[in-house]
Amino acid sequence: MKVIIKEDYAAMGKEAAKYFAEVIRNKPNAVLGLATGSTPISTYKELIRLHEEEGLDFSQVTTFNLDEYLGLTGDHKQSYRYFMDTNLFNRLNIKKENTNVLSGVADNPEAECREFEEKIKAAGGIDIQLLGIGGNGHIAFNEPGSSENSRTRVVDLTKETIEDNSRFFEKVEDVPTQALSMGMGTILEAKKIVIIANKESKAKGVAVSIEGPVITDVPASILQKHSDVIWVIDKSAASLLKNSY
Ligand code: GLP
Repeated sequence: MKVIIKEDYAAMGKEAAKYFAEVIRNKPNAVLGLATGSTPISTYKELIRLHEEEGLDFSQVTTFNLDEYLGLTGDHKQSYRYFMDTNLFNRLNIKKENTNVLSGVADNPEAECREFEEKIKAAGGIDIQLLGIGGNGHIAFNEPGSSENSRTRVVDLTKETIEDNSRFFEKVEDVPTQALSMGMGTILEAKKIVIIANKESKAKGVAVSIEGPVITDVPASILQKHSDVIWVIDKSAASLLKNSY
């Protein structure tokens, strides 16, 4: 596990984007795993800059997103499909049909999850996965207690996550209580993982995930078992780490 500490949020994003650009340059038809939330925005800004100014080519790239709220259509402003389209995909030369975001309104959400897993397999697996970390240490929507073998499935969101994410909705009652989420086992199969965090509010989760024991109560700690994980964090998110990196 590598830990890279950057001065601020913008530098964190530039550093994280570098790994994605490297994978795409080496393998133009790379398969990317992508994340939502406020954390990845500086990473996506840098990927857009690399595309516009340095010709980084997404024409053969395929993407899979970590999760989606159950019950939200792709054109709902708080859906993760909408987030990805507006913050990244619409600004790149990526083919929309190669961008996979779970549907929050599938007739059969369990079948939607199974098909998603099959699509990842058919694409040859995820070459590089971007992750953020929730205030409670969750990754994607794998809440504390999620098994490390879990696959893409329908999950219940914890009260804490609903409250954390209510900042994007008008009121807390509008936040869906369930989501479709890639599983821990699915995430751990990615060949390379880049996990990003900024702000002091993430410092505790970051410290226990990197320096604490591997426990299912802190889903991000399970990443210690993966052979190619890079934490890219800003100084505030690194503030509770005891070791120097
Ligand atoms: C949501 C997402 C996670 C994300 C987390 C943190 O719960 N499912 O993938 O890591 O939010 O969000 P933010 O980056 O806004 O702090």
